[in-house]
Amino acid sequence: MAKELAFVSGASSGIGYQLALQLAQRGYDLAVTAHGDRLEEAAKDFEAAGATVHTFQADATKRDEVEKVWRGIEALGTPVAVACINAGIGEAGLFATESSLDQELAIVDLNCGSTVQFAKYISRQMAGRRQGNILFTASIASETTSPKMAVYSASKSFVLSLSKSLRFEMEHFGVNVTALQPGPVDTEFFNVAHMEDTKIGTDGKKSNEPDTVAKVGLDALFDGKEHVYAADFMTKLQGAVAGITPDSVQAKMQEKYMEPATK
Ligand SMILES: NC(=O)c1ccc[n+]([C@@H]2O[C@H](COP(=O)([O-])OP(=O)(O)OC[C@H]3O[C@@H](n4cnc5c(N)ncnc54)[C@H](OP(=O)(O)O)[C@@H]3O)[C@@H](O)[C@H]2O)c1
Repeated sequence: MAKELAFVSGASSGIGYQLALQLAQRGYDLAVTAHGDRLEEAAKDFEAAGATVHTFQADATKRDEVEKVWRGIEALGTPVAVACINAGIGEAGLFATESSLDQELAIVDLNCGSTVQFAKYISRQMAGRRQGNILFTASIASETTSPKMAVYSASKSFVLSLSKSLRFEMEHFGVNVTALQPGPVDTEFFNVAHMEDTKIGTDGKKSNEPDTVAKVGLDALFDGKEHVYAADFMTKLQGAVAGITPDSVQAKMQEKYMEPATK
């Protein structure tokens, strides 16, 4: 019997790599995308886990490249049964004086723009078939006040809000939508976001491993949950109290995370 097809963006490393690997282990074939050519190496691991893998290298900050990826997926002739819209980047620093505007606009283009674009194509296809599962990688930062990560945090609020609204729209089409909200995870995210020397970018990120976060996310998706905090106790606690924690307290916590690792 032909296998079903799963789509993962940002599949070359970190959480997306684990989502793709675990979907291969759960019996799916894969359409995976990322920008760099290390995607091809990752694809070998997914194949070793039993999947037929289709790779699409593209800079997802660019609208025409995302469109081309989708045309390539459509040309496979197999509908997407599961979609993990996951690719994302960050940028650290005081907004007024430290962080890079180029990087912050790339955050908007990738974390928000490509997420909307992939979600549009995928939800149209799934609505037509009246079945499917969509997992959005949001963040605990979707719900926190985050000095020195203002644009990233705002982008993840966008993703969470999109996911929650689409959940209600898509249930009329028999499609489940879930938001994955990781706490700090030990991935390359912190290097890309220029956070190697911060408390969170050194010890803090060791709170969660990407394989555990991916498993928790996929379990929540297939259980039909609205969202899941992943995965350690502190992340779950922070998520549970986010709505009642004053902004000033959240900001103080964030400032601590962003302190130099040596302090
Ligand atoms: N790590 C954390 O603490 C954490 C916490 C909460 C949420 N998240 C979210 O989890 C998601 C995955 O991040 P991660 O932690 O796994 O980081 P990661 O290891 O850096 O993975 C990021 C992925 O996004 C891809 N990507 C980056 N820029 C791209 C572009 N312009 N076009 C296409 N693909 C691009 C990367 O591919 P290439 O570089 O190979 O092109 C890579 O596959 C992100 O949405 C992030 O916001 C992470």
